[in-house]
Amino acid sequence: PHRPYVIDEMISAKSIAARIEALAREIRNEFSDTDKLVVVGLLRGSFVFIADLVRELDLPVEVDFLEASSYGDGMESSREVRILKDLRGAIEGRDVLVVEDIVDTGFTLDHVLHLLESRHPRKLRCIALLDKPTRRETTVKADWIGFEIPDEFVVGYGIDFAQRNRNLPFIGKVRFTDTA
Ligand code: PRP
Ligand code: MN
Ligand code: MG
Repeated sequence: PHRPYVIDEMISAKSIAARIEALAREIRNEFSDTDKLVVVGLLRGSFVFIADLVRELDLPVEVDFLEASSYGDGMESSREVRILKDLRGAIEGRDVLVVEDIVDTGFTLDHVLHLLESRHPRKLRCIALLDKPTRRETTVKADWIGFEIPDEFVVGYGIDFAQRNRNLPFIGKVRFTDTA
C-alpha cells in the first residue's frame, strides 16, 4: 500500500520530442560511417524513449534489449544490478548505442557499460534521457543527455513508480499528498 500522491508535469511531451530530434542529429553524426548500429534499450524503463529515438535515426539500425533491474518496486536503488535478460545478438566489432531512461546513482549504466565493453564492440556510446547528477555514486557518464533534472522522484515516458505510470506521455514528478 503506497502513500497517496499526485503527479506534476515537469517535462512536456512536446519538449521531449524536440529534444529527441536534436539528439538524433548528433547521434547520426557520431555514427555516420556505420554499416549497422545496434541500438540497445535497457528494459523496462527505456522502451518509450528508444521507440521515439530510433524513429528519428536515419541510419541502418538494429534494435536489441537487455533487462537490468536495481530498484524493484522501491524508491531507493538496491545498488545491486541484476541482468534479467541478455541481448539476443553478439556485439563484437559492432557499433553500439545504449539507450537508458534515467541515470540516478549510475549503478545500472555503469554495470551495463562494463558488461558490454567486455564483448569488444567497435564503438560503444550511451544516451540517457534524464540525468540526476546530484545523486551519482559512480563515475559513469552518458555521452548524450536529454535533460538534467533535480533530485525528484520522476515517472512517465517509460519510467515507473512501483511499475505504474510508465504510460504517461510526459515526465512528471511524484508529490505525496499526505502529511507524513
Ligand atoms: C531504473 C531506471 C534506470 C535505473 C537508474 O530502473 O530505469 O534503469 O533505475 O537508477 P541508477 O542510476 O540508480 O541505477 P529500474 O531498476 O527501476 O528497472 P526498470 O527500468 O524496469 O523500471
Ligand atoms: Mn531501468
Ligand atoms: Mg523502475
